[in-house]
Amino acid sequence: MSLFCTIFIVLLVTSSPFFGAGENIDNPRIQNYIVRIENDYKPAAYFDVVEWYSSILNSIGFNVIQEEGGKGSSNFLHVYGTVFHGFSARLTFEQAQLLKTQPGVLGLFPDQVYHLQTTRTPYFLGLDSYHEPLGLLKESDLGSDVVIGFLDSGISPESPSFSDEGLSSVPTHFKGVCDGGIDFPSSLCNKKIVGARYFSRGILTMKGANEEEPQSARDYEGHGTHTASTAAGRGLNASFFGYAEGRATGIAPKARLAIYKVCWTNGCVASDILAALDKAVQDGVAIISLSLGGSPTRYSTDPIAIGCFAAVEKGIFVSASAGNNGPEFKTVSNIAPWITTVGASSTDRTFPADLVLGNGIILTGTSLYTGEVMKDKQFFPITDLGGSTCEADYLDHDLVKGKIVVCLHGFISLIQKGLNVKEAGGLGVVIANDEVQGESLKSDPHLVPGLSITKSSYDKVVGYLNSARNPKATMVFHGTKVGSSLAPAVAAFSSWGPHYESIYLLKPDIIAPGVDILAAWPKKVPPSGLGLTEDPRHSWFNIISGTSMSCPHVSGIAALLKGAHSDWSPAMIRSALMTTSYNYYSDGKPLVDQKSYTEASIWATGAGHVHSVMANDPGLTYDLDMDSYVDFLCASKYTEDEIMTIARRAVSCDKKALEQWELNYPAIIVAFNQTQEASTIEFTVTRTLTNVGVIATSYTAIISSPKGTIVTVNPPKLSFKVKGEKQNFIVKISTTRISFQNEEVGWLTWTDGQHNVTMPLVVVFKNSH
Ligand SMILES: *[C@@H]1O[C@H](CO)[C@@H](O)[C@H](O)[C@H]1NC(C)=O
Ligand SMILES: *[C@@H]1O[C@H](CO)[C@@H](O)[C@H](O)[C@H]1NC(C)=O
Ligand SMILES: *[C@@H]1O[C@H](CO)[C@@H](O)[C@H](O)[C@H]1NC(C)=O
Repeated sequence: MSLFCTIFIVLLVTSSPFFGAGENIDNPRIQNYIVRIENDYKPAAYFDVVEWYSSILNSIGFNVIQEEGGKGSSNFLHVYGTVFHGFSARLTFEQAQLLKTQPGVLGLFPDQVYHLQTTRTPYFLGLDSYHEPLGLLKESDLGSDVVIGFLDSGISPESPSFSDEGLSSVPTHFKGVCDGGIDFPSSLCNKKIVGARYFSRGILTMKGANEEEPQSARDYEGHGTHTASTAAGRGLNASFFGYAEGRATGIAPKARLAIYKVCWTNGCVASDILAALDKAVQDGVAIISLSLGGSPTRYSTDPIAIGCFAAVEKGIFVSASAGNNGPEFKTVSNIAPWITTVGASSTDRTFPADLVLGNGIILTGTSLYTGEVMKDKQFFPITDLGGSTCEADYLDHDLVKGKIVVCLHGFISLIQKGLNVKEAGGLGVVIANDEVQGESLKSDPHLVPGLSITKSSYDKVVGYLNSARNPKATMVFHGTKVGSSLAPAVAAFSSWGPHYESIYLLKPDIIAPGVDILAAWPKKVPPSGLGLTEDPRHSWFNIISGTSMSCPHVSGIAALLKGAHSDWSPAMIRSALMTTSYNYYSDGKPLVDQKSYTEASIWATGAGHVHSVMANDPGLTYDLDMDSYVDFLCASKYTEDEIMTIARRAVSCDKKALEQWELNYPAIIVAFNQTQEASTIEFTVTRTLTNVGVIATSYTAIISSPKGTIVTVNPPKLSFKVKGEKQNFIVKISTTRISFQNEEVGWLTWTDGQHNVTMPLVVVFKNSH
């Protein structure tokens, strides 16, 4: 399980021992369990559910210690009441087995560890000024009435990005509090940071937990400050040591922040995350932003999926990061159909730096190096030590002294590699991609002259090193460049579909900027991350990468959309984002993947790249209610008990089961069996559109069929007379092929001349992924 961010992974690697899922500090036989209780079974004799839960635990021989005043029990880690019915507690395996058989106990599952989702390399920078949703910003008053809840590593409240200057009073519907704990007096909340809480009872029982860590909503790490300001930071002049200089602003600069700290030095655990979701929903946030995740798992044992079901039921939009495990198939996480899952793309702002070889070849890479530059035209010897990852123990001073050293990626931070080279007497560092990173570049705030180069550039360096007698090179740093031609491109690290459990559900839903993102940072935390004590730099801004960074872009846009259209459901907001997203550059060529710079896969892009201005006026939307999700779970062969755990109510899957592809999602994926008979199969898919435009209008279907298929849409024209009106249509997809090598992608667009409502049509053969 991991936060989708670089820094955390570095910390995890350097801190050992790391904890296993649910393991207890003292006794490995004791684990944290999250226990789902059916509250309707509570006997009347009990005053409240907590008293009843205590008696259930007592009945299995678990020694519950009643706290003063009879309020709860110190042996519960958390008692949940809003998004989940039940509690978490530390139990032996035997107690857990016994508990399962007690009346009212629906099920239980062990706690698990999640992490923040930045990539393996931290950076600094200045905010995103390329987003200018002017009309939308105005219509929603910059998100002023919307509270975004962040489940993250806390916040650095003193950052100028969180000033409340000129903000109106806190929306009265928000019921949260400022309970920031140590080092976070309630005076630090304001009209911008309207709530602060922290959740650690679960993680503190884990092996390897840092018990010294202050119990506080303060961000000692940087990640939470960065994501919060990306979604809702105030406009400021910002730069990172001259890089990305300019006006930095969050997407919804007047939206309010409610902080729920769940991630600590060693990660975040399910029992705490569920408690935070419980509170966030109770407090009345409108948006939940989740830049964390773990491996994809069944919804019924995933506290994020469970907690977010209740959130979405209350009309809360949930945006979550897709994960940084790309570019491999089936790596996307946070995949429940009620969550909006966000992958990462590059932007057109780059930080070019050249490696100039002695033979005159110039290889352009990227860097955020902040120190003295190499003297103009002065060349130095260069070596790659035969493909070293430049760990300190393996750097031979005699081979490194006075040289530029080429280092491959590996487990230590890229900044650390530079320091190791310098320590061994070297002059500079070149970080070289291998096949895994390919042509994808992220920029790093090196402390010694350093830059990163692509795999193809590395091949040229190796060729030169092998042929030159006295190979030499120099580095030239170009600062910030805006207007890169192939942007956006999907980041190589961004996780890919298909959905690991249900091929028919498109995930990720959408991509948004997540490479080299400038946003706020705690000034006390070095920009290279907590692990590097040698880093003397301090800045209120930093540039980092990950799907952790793309998620809050969508949270911010959703806040603006919610502000402008308070009647839109979470599914309508997602539909607006997906149907107006784009898949082509302005010259008509398809979006590329940063790994190879060839056409990006639908499994990497989802519906496409978010377009905030277009999303404000989608014309039509594909809406979904909670019953549709329950039908989808039935179709996905979830048991009624599993669904009850998620939906908090009894359900019946008896009625004619819908098929998974019938979920009213803004994407259609069908999977043919890999047999001869495939040619005889026809899929019939129904979708429903809701008019969100204000005028009566009629739409015409434009079909671009996936290769090897025949697609028809009926009726081919839809007329809407009033706002809110719904119309159904049927899509039939058949194939003439026996087999598809890969998936084939087409599009269905409904157009009235003013709006294009576009969704992908994807055809796959089962078992081809
Ligand atoms: C921000 O930068 C702009 C352009 O350089 C300048 O005009 C403005 O005064 C600056 N604002 C602040 C608050 O420093
Ligand atoms: C695919 O084949 C299986 C087994 O032959 C069958 O049960 C299933 O209905 C088929 N699926 C479709 C979509 O035709
Ligand atoms: C809709 O799509 C068509 C065809 O791609 C394009 O020519 C047109 O400009 C689009 N209209 C809008 C409003 O985006």
